[in-house]
Amino acid sequence: MNLRILEKEDFPLLVEWFNQPEVFGEYNPLHQVTLEEMGKLFSSPHEIKPFIVENKEGSKVGFIHYFYVLHPVSRLLEIGYSLIPSERGKGYGTEALRIIVDFLFLSKDVIRIQAQTDPRNLASQKILEKAGFKKEGVLRKSFFIRGEWKDNWVYSILREEWKEPRILTK
Ligand SMILES: CC(C)(COP(=O)(O)OP(=O)(O)OC[C@H]1O[C@@H](n2cnc3c(N)ncnc32)[C@H](O)[C@@H]1OP(=O)(O)O)[C@@H](O)C(=O)NCCC(=O)NCCS
Repeated sequence: MNLRILEKEDFPLLVEWFNQPEVFGEYNPLHQVTLEEMGKLFSSPHEIKPFIVENKEGSKVGFIHYFYVLHPVSRLLEIGYSLIPSERGKGYGTEALRIIVDFLFLSKDVIRIQAQTDPRNLASQKILEKAGFKKEGVLRKSFFIRGEWKDNWVYSILREEWKEPRILTK
């Protein structure tokens, strides 16, 4: 399994994924995005930084990204991730999350990394916990999903809770 920085050549596949509700799953908002919009979304240096997740055969199976909440000056990082349905449950989500946490704490002077998840999204909660995240609170009615405002749980990992790089130095 490998994380690779997203290149322009990946945009068409990402547009295809963004426009398929199954890729984000039932606990995320629906998206409709064009190739041009996708280019803008990922072109600013302070916008979302995505990585493509590749499986052990080298096929593209999903993405994981990070972004600064509010503004880069806040140095408050958040992550998000999705895998195509056929590649879930094989450990790639857990491994991708561990790699990005290692990468962010090793490369950036940030004190915490956060993630948000729907309370019903057990797979997401499981991988967050396995990567050392702790549930810290509820953002009430913060996500508009399938026509309804839903609560979201916030998870975080602090630098002092991040024991040691488990992936990148081995
Ligand atoms: C969330 C997601 C990235 C997880 O990736 P993944 O590769 O499937 O996860 P892993 O295989 O590494 O681990 C999943 C864990 O959750 C567990 N799990 C999966 N579905 C579960 C369920 N319904 N109830 C309880 N546990 C569940 C698995 O057993 C596994 O735990 P284990 O390793 O202890 O057995 C993936 O499911 C996904 O892309 N979902 C759709 C998009 C999404 O919801 N993104 C997150 C938004 S916050």
